[in-house]
Amino acid sequence: MENTTKMRTSPERPEVPIVLMYTAEQREQAMAFELWCDLHEVDAPRQVDVPSLYLDYQGLALCSPGNKRPFRLAEQNLHRRSVGARKGELARACGLNQGDLSVLDACAGFGTDGLTLSMLGCPVTLVEREPLIWVLLQDFARSFDNTQVMFMDCKEALSGDLTWDVVYLDPMFPERKKNALPNQALQHLRYLTQDAQDTSDLTELIQLALNCANNRVVVKRRLKDPVVEGVNFQIKGKTVRFDVYLAK
Ligand SMILES: C[S@@+](CC[C@H](N)C(=O)[O-])C[C@H]1O[C@@H](n2cnc3c(N)ncnc32)[C@H](O)[C@@H]1O
Repeated sequence: MENTTKMRTSPERPEVPIVLMYTAEQREQAMAFELWCDLHEVDAPRQVDVPSLYLDYQGLALCSPGNKRPFRLAEQNLHRRSVGARKGELARACGLNQGDLSVLDACAGFGTDGLTLSMLGCPVTLVEREPLIWVLLQDFARSFDNTQVMFMDCKEALSGDLTWDVVYLDPMFPERKKNALPNQALQHLRYLTQDAQDTSDLTELIQLALNCANNRVVVKRRLKDPVVEGVNFQIKGKTVRFDVYLAK
């Protein structure tokens, strides 16, 4: 990555601050989140009306309305996922056989894909535009070498003069009524982003991404989603496919 522009790393305090509940033993660690969150000391996680955060000895977790148990991002799951992943569809689509390429994960979510690539040796920049998701992700990604987590709309990142070998795009798929329930992480992401004003046009995003990609742009899609023109090849899994657009 050529570092010619400074990228924003964290959000301003949101207009409606994120509620963060913490246990007394975590009082000191909780202060690190004061910039973006309203802090509340509690004995145990409370039922919430809006998505909130909870910090205890196990780390930071998400509390969602209607869910009794806090949801945690687990490094263990990523380790499990990364075993054999070098030969998997994601790594093949990103061209990891060519080496440890630098990656911009432009729609990072909980970072499952981006951090898997980081575990495989790639320096990864993760970009997320939802403040609560960003707070969870930047906390989770702290233990990963060679990663940075940015708070911004990826269109801004893709319009600067930074470049990466691979730009990876996984914007939220529109919900389909017939679909089986997605995994728990994706259900949470869907809920957390339901109010986001999405004006992104995938064709435009791919064009912007191609301006910043030295090697390729990889787009994660559901198997039956339409193909955006210009794709060079596809790698298909059981439920998703990766469309690859090579840099000129
Ligand atoms: C389907 S999820 C990504 C899941 C991710 N690949 C993972 O492994 O966890 C899409 C995420 O992209 C974020 N997003 C969508 N459009 C974005 C944009 N224009 N800029 C930054 N983030 C965006 C959403 O807030 C959401 O968290």
